[in-house]
Amino acid sequence: MLSTQQDKLVIEGAYALNGSVKVSGAKNSVLKIMGACILSASKFELRNVPQLSDVRVMTEVLRHIGLVVEQQDDVMFIDATHISRTDAPYELVSKMRASFIVLGALLGRCHEAKVSLPGGCSIGKRGVDLHIKGLQMLGAEINLNQGYAEAVASRLEGKEILLDTPSVGATENIMLAAVLAEGSTVISNAAQEPEIVDLANFLNAMGADISGAGTNEIIINGVRQQDLHGATYTIVPDRIEAATYMIAAAGTEGNVILENIIPGHLNSVIRKLEDVGAEIITEGPNTLRVIGTGKLEAQNIVTQPYPGFPTDLQAPFMALLTIANGVSIITETLYENRFKQIGELNRMGAQVQQEGDIAVVTGVPKLTGAQVKASDLRAGAALVIAGLQAEGTTEIFELSHIDRGYECLVEKLTGIGARISRVPAELTGIADTTPATN
Ligand code: UD1
Repeated sequence: MLSTQQDKLVIEGAYALNGSVKVSGAKNSVLKIMGACILSASKFELRNVPQLSDVRVMTEVLRHIGLVVEQQDDVMFIDATHISRTDAPYELVSKMRASFIVLGALLGRCHEAKVSLPGGCSIGKRGVDLHIKGLQMLGAEINLNQGYAEAVASRLEGKEILLDTPSVGATENIMLAAVLAEGSTVISNAAQEPEIVDLANFLNAMGADISGAGTNEIIINGVRQQDLHGATYTIVPDRIEAATYMIAAAGTEGNVILENIIPGHLNSVIRKLEDVGAEIITEGPNTLRVIGTGKLEAQNIVTQPYPGFPTDLQAPFMALLTIANGVSIITETLYENRFKQIGELNRMGAQVQQEGDIAVVTGVPKLTGAQVKASDLRAGAALVIAGLQAEGTTEIFELSHIDRGYECLVEKLTGIGARISRVPAELTGIADTTPATN
């Protein structure tokens, strides 16, 4: 079902979405939890695992290291009893920067690792300096050599680590290495994303001693290798996927129920959707209904680390604001190059102007279908939303980006009444030009 890169999506827009969508497990959670399995010579069962191309890349990384990984539907079995090598090569890490997480885990278990630097990506330069500095503070010796981080640590020792910025990846990498360090590590100005909490909960389920995850100070009391053991664990729902469908419901005057969500993870988005004019109704502890009232008002949005408005929803929300009444101002504070959807949205009749890290969105009455291409994962999601809102036919190319983060997108959208189909590569005649990305 996962695609080649030349497929295209065809959307007949301007139909209201109606029905229920079951949200999948969180991509940004499962990738790190898979990496965490490296820490212990044990067997793990992960549930609510989405079938995504990013999960496949992480599977390849773990298999390269020597782990046995099998996925059956949404259940993944990982046997981390044997590790045969401690490197992660460029060919894999450059496909997905989240795989850099194995650096901390390998250092913890094997005291050595050689992991390719992920490099820049299409949404910005995205350094790993905070990961490296944090691991060095725990006692690792790290040399950057020919595009690789080569790390050794005869012993890791807990430290107080203050992050310059609350980086999700750095918090996770340091947390993983600190699990088996001697003594306590305190990460201050830590990232507070729900995926960090999920990783900490998983680590605790396998015998680690972590508290404070979800606040800006995380305390990791080091444990011994023999204290760690296997675990069965269910991945949290994907708040970004959930929000993408919520935004699409709002933009199509739809009436959509989201199942298998944690509403508390979506507070900033719920607030903005209500401000725009959508109605959000709590239907149960894990269920929300979103009703697009047809009245959309311009909003100002500033992306922030959690619990602020997520950068991953900046592009999808922009697609909604293109048809809101008035002028919206969107400020992207995390990534310097995350406005790549603008040119494509404007091809569909939107009026968006970029000035540095600010996008000015002048609402138009309607978008019209066009041929567009996804430049990265969330820009791709924005184009899907725009296509659902637009009159006429939208064709979206370079779907490999969208496949990284949206499980069964076509099936889920068709299930709520969207007129969307995927045309396979052999019928499109389009050559693959997609570069590797974030
Ligand atoms: C994760 C998410 C991504 C999300 C991002 C911010 C995964 C797989 N990806 O990415 O979807 O958009 O959080 O919520 O979980 N930075 C540095 N030096 C570092 C690390 C980060 O300068 O060593 C900067 C980055 O350039 C960026 C900011 O810190 O401006 C936040 O990045 P970070 O939180 O680390 O994002 P990721 O973990 O890469």
